[in-house]
Amino acid sequence: MKRVKTALLVPGMIIAKDVHNANNILVMGKNTILTDESITKLTFHSIYSVYIKEEVAEVPKKPTYERTYIPSKIKESPEFKAFKENYEKEVENLEVTFQDIISMQSQKIGISELCQKATSMLDDTRGGIHVFDILHNMRDYDDSTFNHSMNVALICNVFADWMHMSAMEKEIATVCGLLHDIGKLRIPEKIVKKTSRLTDEEYDLIKTHPMEGYNILFESRFIASVQNAALMHHERSDGSGYPLGLKGNQIDKFAKMVAIADVYDAMTAARVYRGALCPFKVIEMFEQEGLSMFDPEYILVFLENIVQTYIKNWVRLSNGREGEIVMLNKHKLSRPVILCGTEFINLAEHPEISIEEILI
Ligand SMILES: [Fe+2]
Ligand SMILES: [Fe+2]
Repeated sequence: MKRVKTALLVPGMIIAKDVHNANNILVMGKNTILTDESITKLTFHSIYSVYIKEEVAEVPKKPTYERTYIPSKIKESPEFKAFKENYEKEVENLEVTFQDIISMQSQKIGISELCQKATSMLDDTRGGIHVFDILHNMRDYDDSTFNHSMNVALICNVFADWMHMSAMEKEIATVCGLLHDIGKLRIPEKIVKKTSRLTDEEYDLIKTHPMEGYNILFESRFIASVQNAALMHHERSDGSGYPLGLKGNQIDKFAKMVAIADVYDAMTAARVYRGALCPFKVIEMFEQEGLSMFDPEYILVFLENIVQTYIKNWVRLSNGREGEIVMLNKHKLSRPVILCGTEFINLAEHPEISIEEILI
């Protein structure tokens, strides 16, 4: 038996010990053979690591289908290339910015300036590609704390618009996203990046990053919401989070937004050893299990808008057919109506069929 980070799990590994959340509710039983979906479920429940058996099970191969439609590639558009270039440049600069904040040399950096750093690359995407399309196409890139921080900042920036926040609140939400994991920089890099088995002490140390982040941002005199977003982004509305086990409105509203953006980014990110999960499976997990963990006012707006960004996209269904998302079901966001040829398939009425892959 060994303790392995969730980010490093691969399908076929077998759970060696029951997995519980902070409320002691069973998330996954012993002997579960992991799949892409169950690994994402662990991420969804903020389970950072699990005990795994030494032996590995055989995983059934997914069928491969012939493509009937070749979509135009976002990745090849000049807009995407410009975004990617700016994104990489800003991620590189982020390392310096974080170090400046930690060493308290950053007291001159204001919220507006930090927000500008995180969102300057959006200026080139006004031509119609949505930031979520771009993030989903960036998935084969590096998955460091800096990339993740930048993604969460961008998601929070868009999320603030969806919540109809003021320009000032939008800046705060973006910076909350940008700095939420800054505490990880106080944990030895060799532990954060460790790919071999994790000891209990190392695991406990990683779980101190919200408190470390709060301390850094308190010392650098950031406003309370930014401090709280670092401290509370692993808290959950039902009290199942950490480090304090806060509930409902004890959690800062910006921390609630960061929590959603954080989990969404972690769940949709491809890992070194496995592919990314289709966003509709992620949305289904939120719909089925997330409504008590996250503030409904925020999570429903978030999911509804994410799903909106996929309307008119070409998808492949679990039965192998391809079609276009033409209409949403407000009460079952993960199950829209698909037009396959001349036939409309309402996934809300077909629980046996699901969206396997977004092809654009
Ligand atoms: Fe975190
Ligand atoms: Fe995070």
